[in-house]
Amino acid sequence: MRNLSIRLKMTLWFAISLLFVMSVMYVAIHFVLKETMMKNAESIVKAYSAQASSYIEAEDGDIKFDENMTNTESGIYYQIYNGSNQAVHSYGDFNDLSSFTPNFNQTQVISIKGTNWIIYDQKLLEDNNSIGWIRSVKSLGYIDETLRNLFFIYICLCPVFLAVALLIGYFLVRRTLQPIDKITATARMIGRGDLSQRLNMKNTGDEVGRLSTTFDEMIERLETAFQAEKQFTSDASHELRTPVTVITAYAENAVAEGSSLEGYSRAMEVILKESRKMSATISSLLMLTRGDQRKYQPNLELLDFAQLIGDVADEVKVSAEQKGVSISMLPHTPAFLMLDQTLITNLLLNLLGNAVKYNNDGGHVEISLVAERQNAVLIIKDDGIGISKEDLPKVFNRFFRSEHSGDTEGSGLGLAIAKWIVDVHHGDIRIDSILSVGTTVTVCFPL
Ligand SMILES: Nc1ncnc2c1ncn2[C@@H]1O[C@H](COP(=O)(O)OP(=O)(O)OP(=O)(O)O)[C@@H](O)[C@H]1O
Ligand SMILES: [Mg+2]
Repeated sequence: MRNLSIRLKMTLWFAISLLFVMSVMYVAIHFVLKETMMKNAESIVKAYSAQASSYIEAEDGDIKFDENMTNTESGIYYQIYNGSNQAVHSYGDFNDLSSFTPNFNQTQVISIKGTNWIIYDQKLLEDNNSIGWIRSVKSLGYIDETLRNLFFIYICLCPVFLAVALLIGYFLVRRTLQPIDKITATARMIGRGDLSQRLNMKNTGDEVGRLSTTFDEMIERLETAFQAEKQFTSDASHELRTPVTVITAYAENAVAEGSSLEGYSRAMEVILKESRKMSATISSLLMLTRGDQRKYQPNLELLDFAQLIGDVADEVKVSAEQKGVSISMLPHTPAFLMLDQTLITNLLLNLLGNAVKYNNDGGHVEISLVAERQNAVLIIKDDGIGISKEDLPKVFNRFFRSEHSGDTEGSGLGLAIAKWIVDVHHGDIRIDSILSVGTTVTVCFPL
């Protein structure tokens, strides 16, 4: 049974249950029928006996009876005995039936040569004196025959019902389990690498319908994650190949015969710049990979967020001034939060770096920190090139760089890392921007 298919197992259970129900019904009908027929036979012999005794009377010590009483349509035999227990009259074949000791006013069931009989003995009274007694008997053969017929019907119907149950059960179960076969086939195709496969079954609302919907949703998520992974790998390799190509080209030129010292020096400069770029990209990728593994435990400590912002702003100010961008910080009070110093420094460098990098000559960056409903809210506002409406939803995607960023350097990983850092601190980050007007980045951390 253990190795049978679910289809066969369910069909067999269905058939066995039906057989069991049929057997229980047969036994119940058998007993109820037998009981009812026995009661009926009992009341018939009693009624007949009462009626017969009214036809009998005593005359000079002899028993007199009306001949009309011999008419027994109900298949009743009877025998009349006088006071000395001698049979004086009988109707029907009484051979063995007279040998039983009388048990007055009580029915007895006896078996003679395979046939059951019901016997009822009643005393004949006249003026309260016993003048004899009458024995009425009725064959119970018809009950046995009815019960035998019932058994015969049961035995004949059993295989028919069983065959019908097996057939209906098999088709019902097959219909119910058909979607499972489809799920198995689809899962096999997905297993071979075709993640575009879907079940696309009608959601019937039953267990199988729910299973197929959940299955499709799961594959949808898997496919999206798989595509993102593929995209990430391809973007990452592209991002690393470009500097390697540049480095290789410059190095080859430098080692070629006839290169001047100036040429060497120029090549070295480019190689150094590209190496730094590559190193920065690799660091960012490593950070994101650590974040993806969801194992990262931030090294949280109680820090003055305002102080940290001030320090990073001072650091960025130098390069900002070279670009003609000014940075100002609105007055603030100390704000102590549980933060990972390295990560938050990285976040601030990314955000302030963007605000300066995507700004115009003479532009301005304004930093403010406010406490708002159980949150410390950091707002970095610039009046730089801004982000278009179409690009805004993509800025947190890995390697996304807007075409408006022109030839500014960057790998497009900064905001993806910023989002991860904010998530690690259970905070929230939002960017509002208008193209050519400016950008506002809002970061909230729970206090
Ligand atoms: N303050 C801003 N103003 C205008 N555009 C911005 C601003 N911040 C981000 N962007 C746009 O969003 C894109 C993604 O920013 P992100 O910081 O992730 O990458 P990046 O600055 O290009 O490179 P990286 O930060 O890795 O050096 C940028 O290329 C730029 O187009
Ligand atoms: Mg950036």
